[in-house]
Amino acid sequence: MLPYVSFCAVGHSYTTDKGQLIPALRDVSFSINKHEFVAVVGPSGCGKSTLLRLLSGLMQPTKGQVRVFDHPVTQPRDDVGIVFQKPTLLPWLKVTDNVLFPLKHKFGRITLADRVRAADLIEMIGLTKFAKHRPDQLSGGMQQRVGIARALLLDPDILIMDEPFSALDALTREMMGFELLKIWNDAPKTVLFITHSISEAVLLADKVLVMSEGPSTLAESLDIDLPRPRSPQTMQLAAFSEYTNRIRKHIYRQSEAESDAPLQAMLA
Ligand SMILES: Nc1ncnc2c1ncn2[C@@H]1O[C@H](COP(=O)(O)OP(=O)(O)OP(=O)(O)O)[C@@H](O)[C@H]1O
Ligand SMILES: [Mg+2]
Repeated sequence: MLPYVSFCAVGHSYTTDKGQLIPALRDVSFSINKHEFVAVVGPSGCGKSTLLRLLSGLMQPTKGQVRVFDHPVTQPRDDVGIVFQKPTLLPWLKVTDNVLFPLKHKFGRITLADRVRAADLIEMIGLTKFAKHRPDQLSGGMQQRVGIARALLLDPDILIMDEPFSALDALTREMMGFELLKIWNDAPKTVLFITHSISEAVLLADKVLVMSEGPSTLAESLDIDLPRPRSPQTMQLAAFSEYTNRIRKHIYRQSEAESDAPLQAMLA
């Protein structure tokens, strides 16, 4: 079977205003099957967000090729939904209008069918009662859920999430992870999920890609053979610790210790 997403010997260097080359990725190859949930972990600055920009078509690699199905990615793609670390909601718009914003922006108008879709998504993220609230009336976790609903509005085949839960407290973060898995289960997507947290990566993903320090390449690709549905009990399994330990061996750095500590504390 043809993989859905492929990075084929991808290298990328940024060029600064002064013409200086900053290498970010070198010789990165991996593939993602349709509806697979792949997490990427690696130290700060190793090129994780660069992967995101290349897959979404916001940028072209300076070497190699990124392909979706059998087409090279050469321009920004409509079939990619992106969730960033901060939900970047428009503060003056209600929840419904924030969710609808990509359609409004793209087509300049909203149909009744669009409103029905938005209402369904808002129900899926459990915020129906807050549909008429503005972002500053919501908690951080609720705002991030709105960001997820907005990314799903155009029913993208691919969902890219760049540290989507890192601004949340440990408990909310963990609950959001399980909510995301529920959403993914109900409406399967091909997911590239970037995180600093080894535990979060193992808990959520089918496969974890471990990046080395920048200019980065893949240090390891690990299939996570843990039963689904995943739950807090998943973290008690011996295999869970084996996976996290194996990944930790590759990338243990102070940044990982910081972001992973809350989840580890919850395991204790
Ligand atoms: N626009 C840019 N211009 C120049 N260099 C850049 C640019 N964006 C990123 N870089 C450099 O590319 C490298 C990879 O950056 P990237 O943002 O992909 O890392 P990251 O793994 O997402 O880091 P973090 O975990 O801190 O978010 C870094 O050395 C960074 O300084
Ligand atoms: Mg980043």
